[in-house]
Amino acid sequence: MKKLLLSSILLASSLFAIDGYKVYKKNCQTCHVEVMDKSYALKHFNELVAPPMVEVAGRLKENIKTTDEEDDVDRYLFILFVKDYIVNPNLENSMCNTGAIEKFGTMPSLKGKLSEDEKQAVAEWLYDHYENISFK
Ligand code: HEC
Repeated sequence: MKKLLLSSILLASSLFAIDGYKVYKKNCQTCHVEVMDKSYALKHFNELVAPPMVEVAGRLKENIKTTDEEDDVDRYLFILFVKDYIVNPNLENSMCNTGAIEKFGTMPSLKGKLSEDEKQAVAEWLYDHYENISFK
């Protein structure tokens, strides 16, 4: 009986959880392509309006690295960065290379467009989804 109750609670909470991938598709995909080969991206650089999401995830992971042995700390900082960047994008905080920034300009702010939960969900998705997918 206890087990049954617990599983129905888990089921209920997962029903209400926000799907980060859906947030991405609705709010980010028009600019950030989900996955793209590096060679393809270089060839079609002129057609891109923003770095592919797979590249963004990889670059942030390379840059946001603490000496803490726990992976959770880096994941936490990554999520904080993304949540902040999407509402306060600016040249100083961007980890994009200068060539890309020159072409794309800075990302427009999504301030007011996403709830706190949606920001959290999309930032978590960005970290977790690309755990085994790299930009190459
Ligand atoms: C209107 C186009 C547009 C939309 C929509 C958009 N972005 Fe961006 N984004 C950009 C551009 C252009 C850049 C590269 C310039 C920069 O770093 O600001 C960028 C950069 C970023 C960066 C920083 C990358 C770095 O290397 O520093 C993150 C993180 C990011 N976007 C996340 C998101 C997420 C998450 C969403 C959806 C919730 C989103 N973006 C929606 C255009 C967009």
